[in-house]
Amino acid sequence: MAFRYYSAEVIRAKRPEYKGTDEELQSAIDDISLLYNSALKELNTKLDVLSDDFDKKHSYMPIHHVKKRLKSLESIIDKAERYGIEDPINNLDQVRAEILDIAGIRVICNYVEDLYTVLNLLLEQSDIELIKIKDYCKKPKDTGYRSLHVVVAIPVFLVNRSVLVPVEIQFRSIAMDTWASLEHELRYKNKGQLSDEIKEDLKDCATQLAKIDERMARIRHEVIDDGNDYSDF
Ligand code: GTP
Ligand code: MG
Repeated sequence: MAFRYYSAEVIRAKRPEYKGTDEELQSAIDDISLLYNSALKELNTKLDVLSDDFDKKHSYMPIHHVKKRLKSLESIIDKAERYGIEDPINNLDQVRAEILDIAGIRVICNYVEDLYTVLNLLLEQSDIELIKIKDYCKKPKDTGYRSLHVVVAIPVFLVNRSVLVPVEIQFRSIAMDTWASLEHELRYKNKGQLSDEIKEDLKDCATQLAKIDERMARIRHEVIDDGNDYSDF
C-alpha cells in the first residue's frame, strides 16, 4: 500500500503497551495515513486551483510555494503524552480528536496581505470548516515568531464513508519563513538552548524582517498595484 507509513511491528516495539492485535494496530496506522495524506492532497489541490484562478483574474500568484508534512506516529503519540492524554496508543480516537496538527501544510506567500487573501478564499469554500485560528503576525510570539496559524477541517471521501479531517495550515510571508527556518535550525542544532543574548538578537531580526515586509508591500503598491484591491473575490 502506497500510503502505509509505518508497520505495526515497528510501533509495537516502541509501544509494547498496545492492547490490540497487530492487524488492529496496522489498520489504525493505515487509517491515519490514508485520511491525513488524503486531506493534505485535497487542500493542496484547492490551493493550486485558487492560485491558478487568481493568476487568471489578476495576473498575480499570491502563493509562492507550499510544503506538506505528515507527523510521524511516534511524534503524534509523544505530543499526545505531553498534552496529558493517558495511554495514547490505546486511545487513538482521543488522540485524533485533540492533536490537530497531524497533517500540516505551510503556505508561503510573497506579501503579508496575501496570507489573508488566500485564507479568506479558502474559508469561503462551502466544504471547509474553520476549527481554530491564531494570528502570530498581528501578535508575534515572545521569540519573535510570526505566522498565521489556522486549523481547518476538510472532508475526505472514501469508498463507503466520508470523514472530516483536521489540517493545520501555517501561512507565512517569505521573510517570516526565512526567519522561522533559520531560528528553528539554530535552536535544534543547540538542543533547544539559546542564550538570552542570542534570543534577543533573533527577536530583533524578526522585527527588522517584519519592517522589511511592510516596506516591500509599500513598494509593491507603488510600483505594481494598478489600483486593484482584489475586491471581486
Ligand atoms: P504545539 O503544536 O504543541 O507547539 O502547540 P500549539 O498548538 O500551541 O502550537 P503553536 O501555535 O505555538 O504552533 C506550533 C508550531 O509553530 C511549531 O510546530 C512551529 O512550526 C511553529 N512555531 C511556533 N513558535 C515558533 C518559534 O518560536 N520558532 C519557530 N521557528 N517556529 C515556531
Ligand atoms: Mg501545533
